[in-house]
Amino acid sequence: MRFKILVIDDEPILRESLEVALQALDFHVISARTGEEGLDLFQAENPDLILLDHWLPGMNGDEVLQKIKEQTPEIPVIVMTAQGSIEIAVTSMKMGAFDFLVKPFELDQVEDLIKKALDRVRLKKEVEWLRAQYQEKFRSGGIIGVSQKMKEVLELAEKVAKGSETTVLIEGETGTGKELLAEYIHFLSPRSSFPFIPINCGAIPKDLFESELFGYEKGAFTGALEKGKIGKVEAAEKGTLFLDEVGELSPQAQVKVLRVLEEKEYFKVGGVEKKKADVRIIAATNKDLEAEVKKGNFRDDLYFRLNVVKLFLPPLRERKEDIMPLFKFFVERFNEQFKKGFIQISKEAEEKILAYPWFGNIRELRNTVERIVLLEKGETILGKHLSFLIGKEREVEEKREFKIYLPSQGIILDEVERQYILEALKMKKGNKLQAAKMLGISRSALLYRMEKYGIKMIDH
Ligand SMILES: Nc1ncnc2c1ncn2[C@@H]1O[C@H](COP(=O)(O)OP(=O)(O)OP(=O)(O)O)[C@@H](O)[C@H]1O
Ligand SMILES: [Mg+2]
Repeated sequence: MRFKILVIDDEPILRESLEVALQALDFHVISARTGEEGLDLFQAENPDLILLDHWLPGMNGDEVLQKIKEQTPEIPVIVMTAQGSIEIAVTSMKMGAFDFLVKPFELDQVEDLIKKALDRVRLKKEVEWLRAQYQEKFRSGGIIGVSQKMKEVLELAEKVAKGSETTVLIEGETGTGKELLAEYIHFLSPRSSFPFIPINCGAIPKDLFESELFGYEKGAFTGALEKGKIGKVEAAEKGTLFLDEVGELSPQAQVKVLRVLEEKEYFKVGGVEKKKADVRIIAATNKDLEAEVKKGNFRDDLYFRLNVVKLFLPPLRERKEDIMPLFKFFVERFNEQFKKGFIQISKEAEEKILAYPWFGNIRELRNTVERIVLLEKGETILGKHLSFLIGKEREVEEKREFKIYLPSQGIILDEVERQYILEALKMKKGNKLQAAKMLGISRSALLYRMEKYGIKMIDH
């Protein structure tokens, strides 16, 4: 992001030296010699920040400042005054100036102030960009869901969106659309004109979580930024904070989040001033959080606070009616992006698409369509275009099979064996030979164990 700075000053030397110095810092600089000219440029160029001299020929700095603030109250204006005119500076601050500089000043001083002011602007720009993105997304019907299961989820989401405080927990396997659903709730909520801020709890190192969430005061710790840092809670003020992968929170971090939910208050790291948290929290996880609570990995009090309303996004293989509408939706999107013209899907391709298990859910489906539309030519998606999925299926299945969690109270090995046999039989639709292969034992060894555990199944 490159920022545009407008300098309004009648002294050519100061103007030029600021131009040179700020350009060297990679800012886009425009400048004006008078207040009138400055206002014209302000209208025409929509700068991100203004450096305004107080004493100007013609219209003076106060008037210029007033006009700017009337039109765009949030733009940071730094007022430059001559020495000994502190009263002027005070008036300017009252009129909404971000800060002031007393001439002559060092370039370092300007740079510091500008960076501080632009921190807010940057955040705002990012949020605006995000907002434009999701408005675009949902205007064109962004969430596809024709299955009964999905319709029910969307209906409930629309209802909870209205309550602007209600905490929501979204559960679902990877790629089922948890983040999209969270954005959708925010978009439909009374908070939609404020930021939606995601925070990926799994990706932040344990020691940094608190300062990411709450920000820190200057000098809070060695290596801290000079001016401190805004945290995600503050960034999401009046909007929605999305705690992604909440199941990955460390025990210490769980306590911090619980406090925000309970007290609606927090402290910045190194801060003494209690701050109010006005955010709605939506949390998402691809784990079964209740099971994590039972295993002692997740605090039950936090779980209850988060789980005011639970939305479960079913895996794609359990809502097969959504597969083709989603596939077509992505074909259209990638047609547009890659300037391609796929308008049909052959019967054979459709059969393959529907038979594939999509363990990576909608994200995998989306990536598959992206790859086909990008690499293939023509108007019709054919069966052979999907043949690269065959090997992948097995790979994912094998990975899936070996996800083992040991409960803290211990296990009964026979029960584990029985569960694995059942799962393998289920995955192979009762085909004993294939199930035995999957388990790495012979068919007769499988039969023996089925007998032992009393598993009955019709032979295939
Ligand atoms: N119902 C839907 N309609 C259209 N697009 C969808 C739908 N659900 C998900 N998507 C798209 O699929 C992709 C994955 O969705 P998203 O990132 O929300 O999943 P997730 O559940 O957060 O995944 P992970 O657990 O891996 O973070 C995104 O590109 C999203 O826009
Ligand atoms: Mg996600």
